[in-house]
Amino acid sequence: MRTRITDLLGIRHPILLAGMAGSTDAALVAAVSRAGGLGILGASYQTADLIKAEVAKIRELTPNPFGLNVLLWNASEQVQPMLELQPAVISTAWGDVAPHVEAAHEAGCLVMHMVQDVPGADAAAKAGVDVIVAQGQEGGGHVGLLSTFALVPQVVDAVGDVPVVAAGGIGDGRGLAAALALGAEAVLIGTRFLATKEAPIDHAWKLAILEAGGQETLRTSIPDIANEADWPEPAAARTLRNALIDHWLGRESELRSQAGEAGAKLQEARRRGDVKEMALYSGEVVGLIRDLPAAGDLVERIVREAEALLPQLTAKVLGKAAPKA
Ligand SMILES: Cc1cc2nc3c(=O)[nH]c(=O)nc-3n(C[C@H](O)[C@H](O)[C@H](O)COP(=O)(O)O)c2cc1C
Repeated sequence: MRTRITDLLGIRHPILLAGMAGSTDAALVAAVSRAGGLGILGASYQTADLIKAEVAKIRELTPNPFGLNVLLWNASEQVQPMLELQPAVISTAWGDVAPHVEAAHEAGCLVMHMVQDVPGADAAAKAGVDVIVAQGQEGGGHVGLLSTFALVPQVVDAVGDVPVVAAGGIGDGRGLAAALALGAEAVLIGTRFLATKEAPIDHAWKLAILEAGGQETLRTSIPDIANEADWPEPAAARTLRNALIDHWLGRESELRSQAGEAGAKLQEARRRGDVKEMALYSGEVVGLIRDLPAAGDLVERIVREAEALLPQLTAKVLGKAAPKA
């Protein structure tokens, strides 16, 4: 599969690992890059020294391109030290990317910014980013209001020549093929990569993903209220429903009055791997996930499925013989 994104990023497959802060590390990033996708390290909330050490490990594991992700609304001071490490891609989200584009290009990095609506996409295109990620609200972690299926073609139509990546709700070759049909030139995947051997999250969280149905996530502000994290509008976090969420759902103002304490409990639950009481950031695609493959095998599997599907679809729907590969 060759698209403008694979050409631009110098990768073999149009599959990008989402830079998930606290849920990606050098091993996962390198596994995806080694398999021909683009691994992205979620670097928010980490010290410059830690990011430097992880980058050194990635480079030991693979010579292939990789990216570093940063949330701009609360961690933009990390952009400069990240640029000094010269990743192929700086991936940004939730904030104004314009002040960083020139410096990134001077450092030899491509800039990929994630948006949740057309005004956000327009602003990113105007700022001169190289790639725009259109993220739908069915995705895991912090998301906006529009869904991938409606958002991606709107962003593609709005941004002219800037290549678009689809994110949110993609977990297999059908999702990749659909994203390409919507006009995206690659996919950015978070939740599906959490359920891999390499993902550095607690095993109990992986099991919770395997067991959950797609109806068991919701978009909520509960973790942000508990953590006193003032995310920009319209961000809310898609998480798996568990005891924590069920306890506070509909009682958000009460939670606000106990915020600091509740946040500390949440962090402590994550340290213990207590899946009932921690925030399990995960998307609707959990309902498709039934195994824990190695991340590199997952990249290969998704590509193989989409490659098989596209000609079959032409044959099935248009009644034409599938073109020979
Ligand atoms: C556990 C988790 C943590 C995330 N952290 C970040 C982050 O630090 N920065 C970011 O840009 N996006 C983050 N995201 C969102 C992803 O970039 C991506 O848009 C989303 O996972 C796509 O939807 P999917 O989960 O259905 O694949 C996170 C997502 C998850 C599941």
